[in-house]
Amino acid sequence: MEKDEYFNAGYGSVLNLRGEVEMEASIMCGQNLNVGAVTLVKKFLHPISIAHKVLTDSPHSLLGAEGAELFALEKEFPTVPPESLISENAKKALEDFLQHGVFGRTEIGIENKADVGTVGAVAIDENGNVAVATSTGGMSGKAVGRIGDTPQIGSGTYADNHIGGVSTTGHGESILKYCLAHSIIKLMEGGLSADEATKTAVEGMTSRLKNTAGAITLSKDGDVGMHFSSNRMAWAYIKSNKIFYGINKDQELVDDYVN
Ligand code: GLY
Repeated sequence: MEKDEYFNAGYGSVLNLRGEVEMEASIMCGQNLNVGAVTLVKKFLHPISIAHKVLTDSPHSLLGAEGAELFALEKEFPTVPPESLISENAKKALEDFLQHGVFGRTEIGIENKADVGTVGAVAIDENGNVAVATSTGGMSGKAVGRIGDTPQIGSGTYADNHIGGVSTTGHGESILKYCLAHSIIKLMEGGLSADEATKTAVEGMTSRLKNTAGAITLSKDGDVGMHFSSNRMAWAYIKSNKIFYGINKDQELVDDYVN
């Protein structure tokens, strides 16, 4: 998905006020609570792979800017010209933001607007190991050096085999104030289902902070939770050889899933 311009991650990431891509990603392993995250990455196509390398090969949890890029070079990740990550849609979105934008609008894919959403993935294997990864370009028109929720563990990403896993999208400044991913985890720990916990925390954040978000959740038993307070969020999950997916409120489509 970091290669697909219809997602706000990798190629097609939204642009900062200087017209640059600055990407962020995090990944967490629910078995041992190991994490890896990077922020302010400009010249690599797959920040999530660098975040994974931080998890496996670094004594640190979060590397940023020059340090993240030095680490990626040391681990032999190929560089790309930063301008090769910029899509026409992202340029249009920044122009639109500069003409009429208010920082904080988090809707995706509205009619002809070029808005795109953060990418998140939550998975559980047959041994009950939960893993969560989230990758983003942040928000269109962000300040140079702005860091959002995605690389911050507990805000954009959380995984714990004892409870479940969560990945979030939406207004980063609100999500990180509310520690949205970890809020959902704590509600599940307190007995709510994945779906109830996701809805409660997302609506709680929106009610308190007046900005929108969405989250995808799996419980340790593989139950799915999904909720968004924005008008739209592209989501999909695979269970029992079926793929369930949607983007608008109350939309749930189902197809057979062929691997
Ligand atoms: N949720 C993406 C961001 O605000 O950076």
